Amino acid sequence: MTSIEQNTHDMGHLADWSVTSWKEKLDPQQVVYQNRADVDKAVTKLRSLPPLVTSWEIQKLKEQIAEAQVGKRFLLQGGDCAERLDDCRPENITNRLKILLQMSLVLVHGMQKPVIRVGRFAGQYAKPRSSLTETRTVDGKELTLPSYFGDLVNGESFEPATREPDPHLMVRGYQHAAMTLNFVRALIDGGFADLHHPEYWDLSFFGAASLSEQARRSYKAMSDELAGALRFMENLGEKTVDDLTRVDFFTSHEGLNLLYESAQTREVPRRSGHYDLTTHMPWIGERTRDLDGAHVEFFRGIQNPIGVKVGPTADPDEIAKLIKTLNPNDEPGRMVLIVRMGAAHVGTNLEPLVRRIDETGSPVLWICDPMHGNTRSAAGGRKTRSVDDIYEELKVSAEVHSRCGTHLGGVHFELTGEDVTECVGGASGVSEVDLDQNYSSALDPRLNYAQSLELAFLLAESLKSNRNT
Ligand code: PEP
Ligand code: CO
Repeated sequence: MTSIEQNTHDMGHLADWSVTSWKEKLDPQQVVYQNRADVDKAVTKLRSLPPLVTSWEIQKLKEQIAEAQVGKRFLLQGGDCAERLDDCRPENITNRLKILLQMSLVLVHGMQKPVIRVGRFAGQYAKPRSSLTETRTVDGKELTLPSYFGDLVNGESFEPATREPDPHLMVRGYQHAAMTLNFVRALIDGGFADLHHPEYWDLSFFGAASLSEQARRSYKAMSDELAGALRFMENLGEKTVDDLTRVDFFTSHEGLNLLYESAQTREVPRRSGHYDLTTHMPWIGERTRDLDGAHVEFFRGIQNPIGVKVGPTADPDEIAKLIKTLNPNDEPGRMVLIVRMGAAHVGTNLEPLVRRIDETGSPVLWICDPMHGNTRSAAGGRKTRSVDDIYEELKVSAEVHSRCGTHLGGVHFELTGEDVTECVGGASGVSEVDLDQNYSSALDPRLNYAQSLELAFLLAESLKSNRNT
């Protein structure tokens, strides 16, 4: 089936949808801009700019997700919690790309299936907040300002002028996403991800002091075996090496700011329907997935694959309705459920959800986000997450799917290629007292390089048993 044929499903349900129909609905995270004329100017500018991604890339991702939904591929999604415009620097981008590529290779090897790589970057600039305002005591007086909603909306520092939402930041965000993406595309085309480069296998985390001897040996054996397998297949001129390791890279971000998303949403020649061209796979967050809300209204009308975050309190019937609304034709490759229940809840709450959705027969990709249900405050007040909780949630999710006869089809991490000290545990030996050493996340704590790679090894080990399911 070609991409174009796949895109000719019935669109009757969209008769009452338009690029702006979301404006009639409630947006619980709506940004309040003071100057309407500036908003119009920014939106008009964004509308006139070229797309960041193309519809054929989006269709390709959709086809790959459709395969992942039936267990033929696995999806790895990762990047910053909140990307900052200042992070648009070459070393940041290459480090992030490198860790994602290395993790994906470990997973390819462990699971013996192709991995779809989806960066949480090139546009992850808008953040939902539990409170719309923040109050601090400044010079002995209480000051209330808008919360920081990410660099697409306002600035982080607690000053009235910086915290005021600025519509021009949407254009700046677009520009930084374009620069990031341009560099990523160039790196990949230019052979950055050539797996035969020795430095590619510079897995420096093997040197981490707290890595147990047994883990070190088992990871080392796995990476040697993988390097050997690649060389062997290459010598044979084997086609599968290309298929298993060919580097496609897709982008994703939370589609929070609907002014930004809708300004880059358009129809494209020779395909039906509208595409959101800011990213390949936008997702709807846990706080904005209300059935009658603005986000569901907007995203039901676009053709991209769409992620939905699902927290521990989600009602399975409600999620079934959400899927019906977002994917009424049961189109393969369209729906991605990013479940983030937390290690404490996943064992009890995931199974009823999986069984309820499975019963509908509508195809979904089940992804585990083991980050957002495992955030806690450390003794010093810093937000952190433990590698043990993260791994526990992954492991239990895999077990639940195995019991239900469904597939854990992907994972979603907040990570960075840098040596930050934000999450605790794992071979890197970060403990709560180390958190202040290098804590640079604008919001949620991210896995550092060593923690990310170690989790990929652990996950590959535990999913090995599901290889052929
Ligand atoms: C996030 O992914 O950073 C986020 C805010 O997630 P959630 O919507 O799952 O809370
Ligand atoms: Co986050």
